[in-house]
Amino acid sequence: MDQAAHPSQRLVGCPLPAAVEVYEVGPRDGLQNELRTLATADKVRLIDGLVDAGLKRIEATSFVPPKWIPQLADAEKVLERVKRPPGVVFSALVPNLKGLERAQAAGLQEAAVFLSVTESHSKKNLNKTVAEALATVREVSDAAVKAGMRVRCYLSTVWGCPYEGAVAIDQVVALCRQLQGLGLYQLSLGDTIGVGTPKQTEQIVTAVAEVFPIPMLALHLHDTRGTALANALVGLQLGIATLDSSVGGLGGCPYAPGAAGNLATEDLVYLLQGLGIATGVSLPRLVEAGQLAQELIGRKLSGKYLQAAIGEREKAASRLPPA
Ligand code: HMG
Ligand code: MG
Repeated sequence: MDQAAHPSQRLVGCPLPAAVEVYEVGPRDGLQNELRTLATADKVRLIDGLVDAGLKRIEATSFVPPKWIPQLADAEKVLERVKRPPGVVFSALVPNLKGLERAQAAGLQEAAVFLSVTESHSKKNLNKTVAEALATVREVSDAAVKAGMRVRCYLSTVWGCPYEGAVAIDQVVALCRQLQGLGLYQLSLGDTIGVGTPKQTEQIVTAVAEVFPIPMLALHLHDTRGTALANALVGLQLGIATLDSSVGGLGGCPYAPGAAGNLATEDLVYLLQGLGIATGVSLPRLVEAGQLAQELIGRKLSGKYLQAAIGEREKAASRLPPA
């Protein structure tokens, strides 16, 4: 019997969400970390391809100073040119009020604010202490909510810090408490350097859920050590219904040495499909977008499903009689 017909099935005794929102971060988290800066027209082709694949939530770029992330200096131009069909929500990273003004001028209805749990990463990534970053997050969220925008907040270095190592869950929970009452609609917990393991994921999500209810949580998992998909599955088993991922497994943080790509969107969608969880995403179209990303970036991307699909397509093409 077709698994996909049974969305309410259980895996090791746990109910799974019937549908999951896949939050695509490739055009932002992916491209911010590439040595090669793509031309605006190529970014637009990639984002349009992701829209065509059925993704409904796309973090398209960053409104950070170009000095910090030169790869995304054309944020306005990208958002001006991409297809923006109804039903697709575009977002962008917003570090301060200036970034919010730029996001509003670009017609965005959602802003993604961000801060780190650890002082060292906060300093490197934002040039601010955690307390200063929190004050900015407050200021930006307040202004965005007043302007009628939705605000998602990233919390980085939840599973571990590239500079400080292990991070205490109590420290994460204490910071989450300070994020209460800001009008956030979603908190995305970041395994910035991909050190997380399933047991740890269960402990973190369970602890944070005491502060932010599960429907408000998302997981943002980097796949440096190959554990992102396993951690995502733990999240699903705990009821998490928004997962961040990146086309082809692009991604990283220039201010987090050792961070590899995000969980690949194709790998995630394949897992969700196999579990009978609805995503609205077409895997074949996603593979086309992944193939385009790979061509544009000019190297083999890390996504496993993508590589398998490309291999199969090449094998099938080699069996065709010559034209
Ligand atoms: P700053 O350089 O410390 O200080 O930046 P500033 O606020 O005084 O600004 C310096 C200059 O930038 C000034 O211009 C400002 O006007 C300008 P100048 O007077 O020198 O000509 N400026 C801006 N320009 C355009 N857009 C703006 C803007 N703001 C100021 N928004 C700041 C402080 C917080 C802005 C900076 O540190 C910053 O943006 N950092 C972000 C770096 C970043 O993007 N990191 C990667 C993303 S985070 C990540 O990847 C993790 C995540 O994926 C989750 C996870 O994996 O865990 C989200
Ligand atoms: Mg990230």
